[in-house]
Amino acid sequence: MGKPTFYITTPIYYPSDKLHIGHAYTTVAADAIARYKRQRGYDVMFLTGSDEHGQKIQRIAEEKGVSPKEYVDGIVAGFKKLWQLLHITNDDFIRTTEERHTRSVQKIFQALYDRGDIYKSEYEGWYCVPCETFWTERQVAEGNTCPDCGRPVELVKEESYFFRLSKYADRWFKFIEENPDFIQPASRRNEMISFVKSGLEDLCVSRTTFNWGIPVPMDPKHVIYVWIDALSNYITALGYGSEDESKYHRYWPADLHLVGKEIVRFHTIIWPIMLMALGLPLPKKVFGHGWLILESGKMSKSKGNVVDPVVLVDKYGVDAIRYYLLREISFGADGYYSEEALIRRINADLANDLGNLLHRTLTMIEKYCSGVVPEPGPAEAIDGELQAVAAAVPREVEETMEKLEISNALAAIWKLVGRANKYIDETTPWLLAKDEATRPRLQTVLYNLAEALRIIGILLVPYLPTVPEKIWKQLGLGEGVREVPWEEAEQWGGLVPGTRVQRGEPIFPRIDPEEALKADKEEKKVVEKVETGGERISIDEFARLDLRVVEVLAAERVEKSRKLLKLQVALGEEKRQVVAGIARYVEPEELVGKKLVLVANLQPAKLMGIESDGMILAASDDEDNLALLTVDRDIASGAKIS
Ligand code: MSP
Repeated sequence: MGKPTFYITTPIYYPSDKLHIGHAYTTVAADAIARYKRQRGYDVMFLTGSDEHGQKIQRIAEEKGVSPKEYVDGIVAGFKKLWQLLHITNDDFIRTTEERHTRSVQKIFQALYDRGDIYKSEYEGWYCVPCETFWTERQVAEGNTCPDCGRPVELVKEESYFFRLSKYADRWFKFIEENPDFIQPASRRNEMISFVKSGLEDLCVSRTTFNWGIPVPMDPKHVIYVWIDALSNYITALGYGSEDESKYHRYWPADLHLVGKEIVRFHTIIWPIMLMALGLPLPKKVFGHGWLILESGKMSKSKGNVVDPVVLVDKYGVDAIRYYLLREISFGADGYYSEEALIRRINADLANDLGNLLHRTLTMIEKYCSGVVPEPGPAEAIDGELQAVAAAVPREVEETMEKLEISNALAAIWKLVGRANKYIDETTPWLLAKDEATRPRLQTVLYNLAEALRIIGILLVPYLPTVPEKIWKQLGLGEGVREVPWEEAEQWGGLVPGTRVQRGEPIFPRIDPEEALKADKEEKKVVEKVETGGERISIDEFARLDLRVVEVLAAERVEKSRKLLKLQVALGEEKRQVVAGIARYVEPEELVGKKLVLVANLQPAKLMGIESDGMILAASDDEDNLALLTVDRDIASGAKIS
């Protein structure tokens, strides 16, 4: 018998957005589950990818003056880098522009057509381009806006192919009834049932007004609707419809599609019905998790409130970020993101509880046992208490992970961390070390602490990518913790006395919140200052602004800031120092000699302790795109702008 299989997927991401911490959340959660299943002996297939077609992408590419393929290539390379940075262990990455995908999507479309489940007609209705979703008159929200995202919908009238969703409504209900766990959590299942009860209409599955998509095989002036294209990725990546379907036979049906709550509808209605129509087995479970939100609402580029995971990993490390995402938010519900809460978690759970447990234990083994794990001596009742927690925790991790309660699984592991810390306080090894008579007892205590840490190291493998190895290495157990079978966490006593420990640096240094948040707060001030309202002003109000041409004499980065540059500029005879939030977009050297536009009569301000006398103007249409305002011919510095 081979290993049992486990096929898990994330959604494939739209390349129109820079990925933010909310996207990272789905993928980190999927990665933790995939790693956990591998640890439990499964042959895991973990898939992620990119959803590259559709009107939205064609429009953005046109605006940028590049081809859609050129546009997506750059962004997808960034996705892959981010997943590496977060130590995501996906086994495959599917791009919907790859031939292995497009060819089989055409086969799927053709098969549905041949079975009579796709027919040609005319679509007249509403379409939300950002969500790539069709809406009926009845469904659109007030003021002709999208009921999902609130943005304006467009009226569409075109010849289209339709998929007979309505024909399958009864079979869908029957399936949902017979498989009560298919949609999780239960609240999302109820939402879907009401949605289908309110009436299932046939779905428009082709478009003719743009061409960035997979051509309909029997009518290539149409392109296939992007959701039909995208959902198919879960089987095209397995080679479905190709010469080699071995992976498809091995892994399909999927064990788990992990998706955000706003796309549960596509995954639990359209996708299962497509599979029913194709005569293929249905996935076992679709889990709709909640959103990571900021005080200002769901993170999205259009709101300008995105948090960049690359910046966070750079600042706090990958283990801390993953821990925070998995621990702080109860999986399934929405959760608030804040950097303050992240720092609190790092300091309390990681630096204080886990980091100190390791550091204290190893310091004592070095000090009292010459750096060698001692042979345990006599046991006492309190040892049994620690061992009982160590025995219960793997069971609790198992139970919670079965229900995808990732946060509770981590909380369970921290019970052992907490119990071991308490055990130190209760047994006071530093007192035991004072007396030769209590030395055997000291040996028991230190052995037990090191043994608890060995188990903690194994249990942490699915969640923290580098820390379990650090713990094992410091315990003198080498680097193989990721390959160790789960069962070794269930057995007390696996650590061999005589093992030489290798105490290293604390695995999580404490973060000073003041220091960590200072730079961000000051940078935010710069950004806030630049924000403008929609109100009209009078010419007199405008005249109050003293806008001047300045020449950049020198430019350098501001230490410890990712965004700020310090400029020395000439304003006629006068010299000024200005701090500008443009470091992510221009190199300081490029600026010297340039003529820019300065708001010269702003109140001076201090940014990160540096005096700034005026503000440089710049334009931005995207968080990755900033252009500095300049003049179109040479003109003396100090010239007034009006
Ligand atoms: N391309 C579609 C999925 C097609 S799957 C066949 C799509 N892409 S997306 O890039 O918009 O979103 C990908 C995933 O990121 C979704 O599961 C979505 O819920 C998740 N998230 C996007 N923002 C999020 C938060 N702020 N918080 C949590 N998850 C979020 O939808």
